Amino acid sequence: MGLYDHHLLPHLMDFACNAKPNRYQRNKVVPNATGTVLEVGFGSGLNLPYYDADKVTRLFALEPSEGMRRKAAPRLAGVPFPIEFLDLPGEEIPLDDRSVDAVVITYTLCTVPNALEAIRQVRRVLKPGGLVHFCEHRAAPDNAVRRTQSRLNPLWKLIGGGCHLDRDIPALLEQGGLKIEHLETMYLPSTPRFTGFNYWGAASPRA
Ligand SMILES: C[S@@+](CC[C@H](N)C(=O)[O-])C[C@H]1O[C@@H](n2cnc3c(N)ncnc32)[C@H](O)[C@@H]1O
Repeated sequence: MGLYDHHLLPHLMDFACNAKPNRYQRNKVVPNATGTVLEVGFGSGLNLPYYDADKVTRLFALEPSEGMRRKAAPRLAGVPFPIEFLDLPGEEIPLDDRSVDAVVITYTLCTVPNALEAIRQVRRVLKPGGLVHFCEHRAAPDNAVRRTQSRLNPLWKLIGGGCHLDRDIPALLEQGGLKIEHLETMYLPSTPRFTGFNYWGAASPRA
């Protein structure tokens, strides 16, 4: 891992992911998490203020990047529920089968190298009846925006820590054994359209 990924990227990601439209998006999904929660790609901890402290009993914060975990550290003070860091990638979640009530994933499946395997792992650790609360950006529905996404994708992956602009993540969620219970989409305001097509909702483990 180079200097860019280790030192500069955590600050850039924290800045980019903390934009006002993204904060509105976080507030639509994170408060729905209850019980023992796993957050995949915890990043710099930007979701922490949105958890409902009366509903969360424990949080596993899975984040493979040491730089992102370092950036998150100041945000942990005063959080009223226990947090345990897991420093492995989402493709190798070190938790027992059917051990968590909810999973939160925001702006992460675009970046995970093997997103399908990470989703299979999420399905494995979720209890029956548990829910994945997600919010991501994805391939846009408009052809012109899609073409821009395809053109920018190689450069974007280089500067954005492996972020893909054009993944069809709802399809990956279904392939990974989840059933989408609720899905909403929109272009975020004040955001370039090639990164701004967001979708959010909830999915459950398919029987
Ligand atoms: C754009 S940031 C989003 C962080 C956070 N989820 C948020 O909403 O602010 C993407 C995060 O995914 C993490 N990531 C990259 N590869 C991963 C993997 N294989 N498993 C889990 N997380 C990963 C990165 O380190 C980074 O923290």
